[in-house]
Amino acid sequence: MSLLQQSPLGTRSAFYQLHSESTSDSKQELVSGLRRAQAEINPKFLYDALGSCLFDAITQVPEYYPTRCEREIFDMHGEEIAKSVGRVQTMIDLGAADCVKAQRLFDRLQPEQYVPVDISVDYLKTSVMRVAALYPELDIVGVGIDFFQTLALPKQVRPDERLFFYPGSSIGNLNVAQAHDMLKRIHDACGPGGKLLLGVDRVKSAAILEPAYDDALGVTAAFNLNVLRHANRLMGSNFDIQDWAHRAVFNTTESRIEMHLEALHRLKVKLPDGERVFEQGETIHTESSYKYQPEHFARMLREAGFKQISHWTDSKEWFSVFAAVA
Ligand code: AVI
Repeated sequence: MSLLQQSPLGTRSAFYQLHSESTSDSKQELVSGLRRAQAEINPKFLYDALGSCLFDAITQVPEYYPTRCEREIFDMHGEEIAKSVGRVQTMIDLGAADCVKAQRLFDRLQPEQYVPVDISVDYLKTSVMRVAALYPELDIVGVGIDFFQTLALPKQVRPDERLFFYPGSSIGNLNVAQAHDMLKRIHDACGPGGKLLLGVDRVKSAAILEPAYDDALGVTAAFNLNVLRHANRLMGSNFDIQDWAHRAVFNTTESRIEMHLEALHRLKVKLPDGERVFEQGETIHTESSYKYQPEHFARMLREAGFKQISHWTDSKEWFSVFAAVA
């Protein structure tokens, strides 16, 4: 499926929609997750159009430090980072959302082509229109794709001097084995002169981590609960968000924040293949956010085949940015 769009300023930007959520695959994936003894929903379902807006709001609450720490790193060390990354022909932005993080680096990195990639297709389309209007000279190829499944990009994406930009510690939403696999796939997709620039959240105390995922305003709670409405739309279930509470706990053994939705009382939910009973206190695991020691992550990069690894951190040493050559 592909759609070529003309931006309002008459510049050319292309959008390729290679992912559609209204497939029976999504329905099947949701049902099988909810049928497990520990029920789960894949975190990608957090990002419908409203979920993407709520995530954007999360990045602005005072407790959620990753976005601010990462921005501080790019502001403080931007010049050195740009030097270490070198010449960029194509900047491929994994999980681009509103494209703002990449946009802040355009002046320093001067990419000739920008390829924002996201599963939240409608949200990304709007972002591409906005960026295209602001940067009429830039060749923009938006790609709506589930990049956790595949990194097969349209042939319009230039093969040389690619920079994969993977900010925000999105890699933390994969388990360690999946993160390993993802780094290898990025390495393989880099091509000649390819590089990676990525943000990773670091291990720290539960006293800092848990409020970041359970803010006082309730924005993260809304983001988590919204997944039930998204699931209802995708598979015709009848979750009522009033029956559920948001929980965020730091699992020190696994070094990850876990987000769950907890049933406030015994209830029955209609699923496409019949009912599912949830006992009071039973949870649905909706997201994990892994936190890394920088040495551990640098080792993972090396194991995936990356070399010339550079590392920067913020003044509190809460977050890490890595640059590496494929
Ligand atoms: C997108 N991702 C890196 C966020 C995180 O911190 O794991 C998602 C998020 N979930 C709750 N708050 C933010």
